[in-house]
Amino acid sequence: MPLRTTPRARLTLFTPGPVEIPTIVNDYLIDPPCNYHRQDGFKDMFAANQRDVKALLGLERPGDVDVTFLLASGTGTNEACLRALAALGKGVIIENGFFGQRLAEQARRGDIDHLVYRAPHDVPLDVARLDEFLATQRDLRWAYVVTHETRATLRNPLVGIGQTCKRHGLRVGADCVSSAFAYPLELEAAGVDLAVATTSKALMSVPGLGIVLARKDMMDELRAAAKGDTYYLDLVGEHDKQEKELAPRFGQPVQLHAAVRGACLHLRSIGIDAHMHRIRVQLEDITRHLEGLGVTAMLAPEHRGWVAGNFLLPPGMLYPELTRLMADEGFYILYGAIEDPRQFQVCTMGDLSAADVDGLKTAFTRVLGRDVRAVA
Ligand SMILES: Cc1ncc(COP(=O)(O)O)c(C=O)c1O
Repeated sequence: MPLRTTPRARLTLFTPGPVEIPTIVNDYLIDPPCNYHRQDGFKDMFAANQRDVKALLGLERPGDVDVTFLLASGTGTNEACLRALAALGKGVIIENGFFGQRLAEQARRGDIDHLVYRAPHDVPLDVARLDEFLATQRDLRWAYVVTHETRATLRNPLVGIGQTCKRHGLRVGADCVSSAFAYPLELEAAGVDLAVATTSKALMSVPGLGIVLARKDMMDELRAAAKGDTYYLDLVGEHDKQEKELAPRFGQPVQLHAAVRGACLHLRSIGIDAHMHRIRVQLEDITRHLEGLGVTAMLAPEHRGWVAGNFLLPPGMLYPELTRLMADEGFYILYGAIEDPRQFQVCTMGDLSAADVDGLKTAFTRVLGRDVRAVA
């Protein structure tokens, strides 16, 4: 008897990662150009990905920076960076949102010497205040900040934060998980030493690999200070192996690297500026549509990253009902701030067409339109 495949409900993802992927990513994922991570074909693919990641992030001096791929999601990749920075001494975790809180918890559980600088979650970080705070500290060696707080959709002023930390003599780590490839980051102007991205967000590949962009002089300093207290998430060890051999230390799936190859080729062909523009314009369009339905957008427009948007549901509906009704329409919608079930989030990071956006708007009209709610 022929094997029957499982019928699948194919929901279109308007989520902040994993996201809808272009066809070429799927093609490369299921049929990689090589099939073992020590082959020459893998080395070629790996080097091309390293080169393209730097180009897509707009680095003006790509020779100053190395790209390391970890088999980890964003959380694991941040942890590898925190562990590496810990070798330098005490650090500060700048926390103004959900993912900053997670970093602080990772540092706490990992026994990393740190303090937490807390700031409001609904406004971008106040750089002058951070400056004042840092002036009172004597023994810090590094800082770690989230560039775009995805849950709140808040965009932090990375250049101001990075330059301020630098003036105080700190090395700078930045979680760029939901900002990399989504809007221009100016990593060099900000003086970022370690930047973390993942493959599953605005790069539009599949989840599984973390990307670390590290300044070469940062890696030299980390290598000199390394205590050898991690094995799998050893950033220095992984970086050095990859620089030397264009291959990972351990068995990272060839398929995931091939998917990244597909994503890079796709973004190069459409152009990174057009990709970023599409993300923003689609989100603006959906925001206008929802506001027209009487649904309130959270956060002052000038504070938003315009990668994802949070919205307040009309009275009488909570997130679990919304997500079920939207799934019936063929779309998957994620919660906003997790502690508030009146919120939901729309994200246009993925490979979404004009037809997808029109379909989503029609679905929102059906599910949230005033007349519909009044009749129901
Ligand atoms: C800013 C930020 N940091 C870290 C993470 C964690 O990434 P992952 O879910 O890949 O571990 C996310 C996930 O959405 C994020 O948006």
